[in-house]
Amino acid sequence: MPKLDDPNLLVGIETGDDAAVYRLGPELALIQTVDYFTPIVDDPYSFGAIAAANALSDIYAMGGRPLLALNIVGFPIGKLSVDVLGEILRGGAEKAMEAGVLIVGGHSIDDNEPKYGLAVTGLIHPDLVATNKQARVGDDLILTKPLGMGIISTAIKREKAPPSVVHRAIEVMSTLNRGAAEAMAEVGVHACTDITGFGLLGHLYGMTRASGVGARIKLSNLPILSEVWELAKEGCIPGGTRRNYDYLQEKEAVVWDPGIDETTRLVVADAQTSGGLLISVAKEKSRDLLSLLETKKTPAAALIGEIVENASGQIRVEL
Ligand code: CO
Ligand code: CO
Ligand code: CO
Repeated sequence: MPKLDDPNLLVGIETGDDAAVYRLGPELALIQTVDYFTPIVDDPYSFGAIAAANALSDIYAMGGRPLLALNIVGFPIGKLSVDVLGEILRGGAEKAMEAGVLIVGGHSIDDNEPKYGLAVTGLIHPDLVATNKQARVGDDLILTKPLGMGIISTAIKREKAPPSVVHRAIEVMSTLNRGAAEAMAEVGVHACTDITGFGLLGHLYGMTRASGVGARIKLSNLPILSEVWELAKEGCIPGGTRRNYDYLQEKEAVVWDPGIDETTRLVVADAQTSGGLLISVAKEKSRDLLSLLETKKTPAAALIGEIVENASGQIRVEL
């Protein structure tokens, strides 16, 4: 990609941020992002809702407010009933409505397998943009959804996930990060990203590298759905999760306490879909943020670690 040089481009592609931010005026900036993927659950309505929540999340992860969206659709015309497509779009539309976002159009193509997502436009005050590069030494790290969704999605594909776990995972993945973004805006934070395909450690690696700091994660503080451990032990590990783990090992980015076994490491590296916000906030504000998150009933409100002075991108995971 060519290097862009425009004074109004506040966030471009360099820092691996969730969305681009473009200043329109002294008090207003535009946020743009796009996300789509193939089904991760069997129910088409839930797939649509999760895909929409996931796409909107990149606006929330910048601290912004989503306004307008466009559907992006791939569908095997003639192979699957159009009723399935109808349900996917209804799931997305109702999720957008819940977020106060207008879906104003879109584009569809004939495809080998279904794909769905949104291109989203949002707004933010230029001074309130939460990027990857402002995490500071001493900040607390807070996570707003539990981990393990990749492992559960793999268990669903292998028909190993109990119905109650599928139900809870759909609930978590289709929850908007809106409440978390509102809490974050109210308290004022340093940095934020949402946890998606690269998993907690991959996205934290991105944030700490962009900020030139290190991080310390406390394993026992991580919110993880209890059933995830059992499924992971049974070998329900997505390819993406293994790739995340191998990549970080290759980069020597993570130092694990010696007592942490490989299954646990894979759980911590698990690739997420529509995961929570990972927020870096000044220590003196973290209590306020946690209690606001609880008021907003985010799926998790967990203090998982802190930003430390270390080589850029170095993460320590402690028992
Ligand atoms: Co993101
Ligand atoms: Co993104
Ligand atoms: Co994204």
